[in-house]
Amino acid sequence: MVVMILDGKACSERRLEILREEIDESGLNPHLATVIAGSDPGSQMYVRMKHRTCEQVHIGSVGIELPADATTGRVLEAIRRLNDDADIDGILVQLPLPGQIDADRVIRAVRTDKDVDGFHPLNLGLLFSGKPNFIPCTPKGIMTLLAEYHIDVAGMQAVVIGRSIDVGRPMAALLTNADATVTLCHSRTKNLADEVKRADILVSTVGRAHFITAEMVKPGAVVIDVGINQLNGRLVGDVDFSGVREVAGAITPVPGGVGPMTIATLMENTFLAAKLRACNTVW
Ligand SMILES: NC(=O)c1ccc[n+]([C@@H]2O[C@H](COP(=O)([O-])OP(=O)(O)OC[C@H]3O[C@@H](n4cnc5c(N)ncnc54)[C@H](OP(=O)(O)O)[C@@H]3O)[C@@H](O)[C@H]2O)c1
Repeated sequence: MVVMILDGKACSERRLEILREEIDESGLNPHLATVIAGSDPGSQMYVRMKHRTCEQVHIGSVGIELPADATTGRVLEAIRRLNDDADIDGILVQLPLPGQIDADRVIRAVRTDKDVDGFHPLNLGLLFSGKPNFIPCTPKGIMTLLAEYHIDVAGMQAVVIGRSIDVGRPMAALLTNADATVTLCHSRTKNLADEVKRADILVSTVGRAHFITAEMVKPGAVVIDVGINQLNGRLVGDVDFSGVREVAGAITPVPGGVGPMTIATLMENTFLAAKLRACNTVW
């Protein structure tokens, strides 16, 4: 079977170029603020990548760096300032936060019209009600990638593995909104292999190298690999790419699949926030 490689890197580059032109033509000056606590190298690298991409598309950015022992109150104070800052359109809190910080309170403190990560319960609720405003970047980026490759999920059996707020749950909601029939699996799912085998489209967000192998996948299925894992010093996804590509109809690589789409979508969400604020839209 000839597999279609869903090239998120190329797709995101095309979209970022278009976005830069739209921003330049809009006359707006969108700004993203990032908030990070602690010095986790992975989190710092992601934040740096986001600032670099902002520069590429002419979005201004500011970074708030708090110490690893910051209290919940200190983070909330930083969020309050950004909420009140008329120059800031989007606020991104880099997760995970250190354990002593109440992440739920922090997420709920972000103004909903600056919540470009889409994690605020109000924005998640709108998504689940089928009337989304800000949609979490990873699942939204996946839907964009599918659309770019003209993959219509309507009527498909979709299986999502993982039920986190940032990926699995909103992914299931987006697929439902797009008329797929969705099964959401997690660590307590019985007979996971049977569920996976029925999938016309499979989204794996587990965070375990080579969790999905070729014999688990239905021939011709669309396989979306969200996982980011280290294996023998290499970056790999959840999917055993070399084996699964032999049976799948389409597949995202790691790296170069979902990751770049996530960052491009963050930029699109930030521009959306700037446009909505400029129109003073009430929703
Ligand atoms: N590419 C990107 O842009 C991007 C963005 C975000 C995350 N990621 C990556 O995606 C992965 C998942 O991230 P996350 O934030 O969603 O992680 P998470 O919060 O740890 O969620 C992992 C999910 O996998 C489920 N799970 C764990 N073991 C399982 C098993 N044996 N069988 C079935 N389900 C199992 C868990 O089930 P329970 O709920 O029952 O515990 C949980 O729902 C990580 O590798 C992360 O780095 C990538």
